[in-house]
Amino acid sequence: MSFRTSTQYVEDVSPGSGALPPRAWYASCDAMSLSLNGGWRFRLSDTADAEDDSFATPGYDAGGWAEVSVPGHWVLQGHGSPVYTNHLYPFPVDPPRVPTENPTGDHLRLFDLPGDWPADGGTVLRFDGVESCARVWLNGTDLGEFKGSRLPHEFAVGHLLRPGGNVLAVRVHQWSAGSYLEDQDQWWLPGIFRDVTLLHRPAGGVLDFFVHASYDHTAGAGTLRVDSDVAGRVTVPDLGIDVATGEPVTVPVEPWSAETPRLYDGVLATEGERVPLRVGFRTVELSDGLIKVNGRPVLFKGVNRHEWHPERGRALDLATMREDVLLMKRHNINAVRTSHYPPHPAFLGLCDELGLWVIDECDLETHGFTEQGWRDNPVDDDRWTPALLDRAARMVERDKNHPSVVIWSLGNEAGTGRGLTAMAGWIHGRDPSRPLHYEGDPGCRDTDVYSRMYAGHAEVERIGRRLDGGTHKRRQLPLILCEYGHAMGNGPGGLADYQRLFETHERLQGGFVWEWIDHGIAHPELGYAYGGDFGEELHDGNFVCDGLLFPDRRPSPGLTEYKKVIEPVGISGDGTDGTVRVTNKHDFADLSALAFTWSYEVEGEAADSGTLAVPALAPGASADLELPEPPPGAPAGEALWTVRAVLAGDTPWAPKGHVVAWGQIPAAERRTPHVTATARPVAGDGVITLGPGVFDARTGALRAVGDVAVSGLRLDVWRATTDNDDGADWQSDLRHGPLWRKLGLHRMRHRLDAVEMGEDALTVRTRVAAAARETGLSAVYRWTSDGDRLRLTVGTVPEGDWTVPLPRLGIRFGLPAVDGVEWYGGGPGEAYPDTRTASVVGRWRSTVEGLQTPYVRPQENGARIDVRWAELGGLRVEGEPAFWLTARRWTTEQLDAAAHRTDLVPGDTVWVNLDHGQHGIGSQSCGPAPLPRYHLRAEPAEFSFVFSAPATP
Ligand code: GAL
Repeated sequence: MSFRTSTQYVEDVSPGSGALPPRAWYASCDAMSLSLNGGWRFRLSDTADAEDDSFATPGYDAGGWAEVSVPGHWVLQGHGSPVYTNHLYPFPVDPPRVPTENPTGDHLRLFDLPGDWPADGGTVLRFDGVESCARVWLNGTDLGEFKGSRLPHEFAVGHLLRPGGNVLAVRVHQWSAGSYLEDQDQWWLPGIFRDVTLLHRPAGGVLDFFVHASYDHTAGAGTLRVDSDVAGRVTVPDLGIDVATGEPVTVPVEPWSAETPRLYDGVLATEGERVPLRVGFRTVELSDGLIKVNGRPVLFKGVNRHEWHPERGRALDLATMREDVLLMKRHNINAVRTSHYPPHPAFLGLCDELGLWVIDECDLETHGFTEQGWRDNPVDDDRWTPALLDRAARMVERDKNHPSVVIWSLGNEAGTGRGLTAMAGWIHGRDPSRPLHYEGDPGCRDTDVYSRMYAGHAEVERIGRRLDGGTHKRRQLPLILCEYGHAMGNGPGGLADYQRLFETHERLQGGFVWEWIDHGIAHPELGYAYGGDFGEELHDGNFVCDGLLFPDRRPSPGLTEYKKVIEPVGISGDGTDGTVRVTNKHDFADLSALAFTWSYEVEGEAADSGTLAVPALAPGASADLELPEPPPGAPAGEALWTVRAVLAGDTPWAPKGHVVAWGQIPAAERRTPHVTATARPVAGDGVITLGPGVFDARTGALRAVGDVAVSGLRLDVWRATTDNDDGADWQSDLRHGPLWRKLGLHRMRHRLDAVEMGEDALTVRTRVAAAARETGLSAVYRWTSDGDRLRLTVGTVPEGDWTVPLPRLGIRFGLPAVDGVEWYGGGPGEAYPDTRTASVVGRWRSTVEGLQTPYVRPQENGARIDVRWAELGGLRVEGEPAFWLTARRWTTEQLDAAAHRTDLVPGDTVWVNLDHGQHGIGSQSCGPAPLPRYHLRAEPAEFSFVFSAPATP
């Protein structure tokens, strides 16, 4: 007899006992329910068996216990702390055993039934999500236990309820056999993190039902059949439908798609209950080697979404879920993969309503077994198969009635094995109407779509051209990138290049950027915490902050870029023939929901604007439209047409006027600044003056332009490496960040070779190189002036054997006081060579603070591209050619050293970088490096800036 008997279930591979069979998740029209969310009494133990189960007995005095909020995670409420690992199990791998140290939270909730709670029928107690294993008692009776954290579990409790003083006791173990199946790359967050609800089940009420609503695009007709465990009638008033359950009916309908999410309200009525239906008619099929919906191939412009809130973890409220969907819609995203578990069920309701294609993924990942060559992987061990099938069934049964769910996914990174095949067989049998996805099935033996993660552009192109080979079955299937574009820190780069491939090769049906939101945890001292900030023994640092949204849901530049890259309307023109080409890139919708505007901008200021009549082009169609004549009397200077597609009216996801797509078309070229070198350098009292420039006579260093003091102006090649520069340590390809450091690019010294006063120029010759390295750059600064303005031409030539690109190439200097910044060039946000699609040429104003992009782990950020001129701190700079502008209240070295935003302390100097070039960004924190065409090669370069210090009025 073991003393651990009472907790044996924790390490049992079985999914649990006592729960009801899974079924569809719905809110009844008439059956009562009682939310048990709220404050619960809470006691934390160090081990699973530290306390007996007496707390579950009515009358137990929990007066001395703490309180936690349910839904919630106790580690985010002051009890213990979160742990972040990517794929490593934070406990010894000895399945199904878990550590003795197993934080266990006892939860107690007392409740009364509402006075009008019906006496007839039954009652079900539903848990929508508990991590990772729970045992449940009601009024002292043991109901059973369950695993499967992000899946619903229900218990029949009607016979146990009393009108008042009910005692619900739930014991939650952080670690269980189930943890081996839940090794997703995210925080380990125990707790009752989704709703707990008591559902009255009337006699003759609905049990489970399956809405089959298909669409025949050739006939324009939908066929509805609702299979129900309990017979009844199905009505859809708008369609005149009134049929018995199980009986098909075909009527003309408007189909559902993510672009046109037409839902029909209906009711399923059994003898004892009415349940609302939201019916979306659509047919998903694999035909001609493509995933088609309603007869048309779909291009997925997707994201991977983990559930995340910086204070509440995976306990999301409805408002946050809605915000996610609205943000996706407003950024042209049309698809979401629920990585790597079924989301809160309400999220799928929002996807139905607002329109998103969903890959619904099962709560399964066993990635940590890769450390041992996948030995003992539960998905290839029959003892675990019941648990796997239980998970598959709980997902499919819960979510089967959502039109938005178009693909099921077995899970993520679980290797291969018989258990997965069993899941696939079960899902195919239960729901043949949806294709099945699993990235870890390279030959597509069990799956209906070829799926890859982080494949580079060249390989994706090969697959698009059908040159990749593979099994016979795989060759018949389309490709989706279930993950690409690793949005960790600054980036991801290269999205536009992927999109071009997707739009060129029909076999490529798009992808899902990794990932939606940074999982930073709000922290009083650190701003946002990431892995290691809670003293974890094993952790993966800020790899958990790799989203298109910052933890507070502010869009990062990556999301702005993605929005532009995937815009559903192409707007282009080269300015040679007075036309603009408009292309409808939707899969289903014509352009009738959009209005088009133009503006004619000179140096970024609108000289005139108007509307453009665009026909309601069908999907895939283009039209070349005449632009108006440039407005007479427009000022001279560089001019552009900006054409925008905006919402013609309010939609459920954005108001009228919301910009969906845009394009800029050149109208008149820029005139580059011209400075005639008429002034001559004059030496005196330790300084040299040249026009408005004042220089140190010994070093040739610029000290002032007019009244503006300037410090430390010199060549700069270093940037605080981005997560993508640093790359992931498993990357076999060359990683630039570490190479740059090895070459000493972060500690370059400047040797002064000569200060030469010429007739009309001051020339300073230097060599820039790092200790221990032969590689370096010569840098020659040539200053001239027309008396008012000061022109600097930098000439630089790499010396030695340069085998790596440069991080950046330009100058940096300090200014004493900068507040506002104004520029004409790309904006409003940051851009880099391969993340520049969303940069709009215009006249922009910001502040130094406003120029910073708050990456959770500080790194290179904030560069504005294509800047023709900028004004800051009393200085005006014009570039020849245009430059990249960055300004910060700390140095690059301080930025590089910071681990959190709170490490960055503003100093007295604003450090300005004017760059001639920047290295690309890429996606190497998990995927490919920047494409070679975005490398900043070390090669001879020359670039100029014209400085002036216009007197402030
Ligand atoms: C993938 C994995 C994701 C995440 C990503 C890196 O391999 O499926 O869960 O870990 O890499 O952020």
